Amino acid sequence: MSASLPAPRDPGGRYRIGVVCLGNICRSPMAEVVLSDRVTRAGLDGRVEVVSSGTGDWHIGNPMDRRAAAVLTAHGYDASRHRAQQFEAAWFDDCDLILTMDADNFADVTALGPGERVRMFREFDPRADGERHGGRDVPDPYYGGDEGFTTVLAMVERTADTLAAALGEMVSTGSTSGAGSASGRASTGSSSGTAGAD
Ligand code: 4NP
Repeated sequence: MSASLPAPRDPGGRYRIGVVCLGNICRSPMAEVVLSDRVTRAGLDGRVEVVSSGTGDWHIGNPMDRRAAAVLTAHGYDASRHRAQQFEAAWFDDCDLILTMDADNFADVTALGPGERVRMFREFDPRADGERHGGRDVPDPYYGGDEGFTTVLAMVERTADTLAAALGEMVSTGSTSGAGSASGRASTGSSSGTAGAD
């Protein structure tokens, strides 16, 4: 499958990515931490910035869900700095790319503003089922068991690999069209492990 990155608002500026889920304590903060790691590995610090939020307001100011933090920590990531925030319409002006974790998040976000820069996160998953819309969802692990968080981490890691490769391409060549496969060049050289499940 192939997906494209929206063109940078400012070609010489920092490309800002906002990841959005419902509560901003499980999926989008996991994606923020992992994608930030891949951005650093790809040498894109200062060129690409990743933030996250939730469409709901229940957890504003709270740290990550302890199960999300545990699985991230077990795989070598730092989950300690996250504090939940709510998505605001200002993000449409502030972000080059908004990535929603499931179809409900996509509908909630695009109800608040223009959809041109909004994508489903798993449009960049090399293993997502592109035909069925549910195949594009990162499933909400909040009401399930620990294994759901491991599944989410595996989805997030391989999708972040693909995104980092596309972002590196965009920064080096200006092309925003080639996000169809993970090159692997952004996925080496770190102590962070992989979740190894899907
Ligand atoms: P998230 O998961 O959207 O991945 O952060 C959830 C967290 C909290 C709730 C729902 C989903 N909640 O209803 O409080």
